[in-house]
Amino acid sequence: MSILPIVTYNDPVLRQKAAALTENTPELQQLIDNMFETMYNGQGVGLAAPQIGESVRLFVIDADPFTQDEEGEENFGPMVFINPEFTPVGDFKTATDEGCLSIPGVRESVSRPETIQVKWLDRDFKPQEQTFSGWVSRVIQHEYDHIEGVLFIDYLGSFRRRLLRSRLTLVETGEVDAGYPIRPKTETAAKQA
Ligand code: NI
Repeated sequence: MSILPIVTYNDPVLRQKAAALTENTPELQQLIDNMFETMYNGQGVGLAAPQIGESVRLFVIDADPFTQDEEGEENFGPMVFINPEFTPVGDFKTATDEGCLSIPGVRESVSRPETIQVKWLDRDFKPQEQTFSGWVSRVIQHEYDHIEGVLFIDYLGSFRRRLLRSRLTLVETGEVDAGYPIRPKTETAAKQA
């Protein structure tokens, strides 16, 4: 397994609608293992394939580190979501701080549906369907946004975004110590040139 560098928020790959996966291959299984290792190394609770530069509809999560102290929160362990779809259940929304491995050092409150029903393929391409609430529901929605080309800072008002401007510039230029390998957009552009 290997730790992959994570692209930063201004990389165009994070703005694409990712493509559905059609077949299970040894390369895909390897990618999933590498994504878990990369996520744990960054102390993240979720990682979507576009964040390591692969524009496919795949993300991994392990939401448990944040739920272990919460009474009544179920533990799910590591989960793989391929070609997921979800619909909110009911109208209830909650706002909680979120962060993102592609935007190191930024945490902001985002309002999302509390409960969702999700259909997806697991890592063996077996169809799954389950209802999720609370923190794990939030993590799934955040990662789902990544495969749709959406970032959590998109939900912020213009005032909050202006306050973040200087921090985001540091992320763009790679002048942040994320604590894990990142691949700032400027470096990507240089490599491709
Ligand atoms: Ni994220």
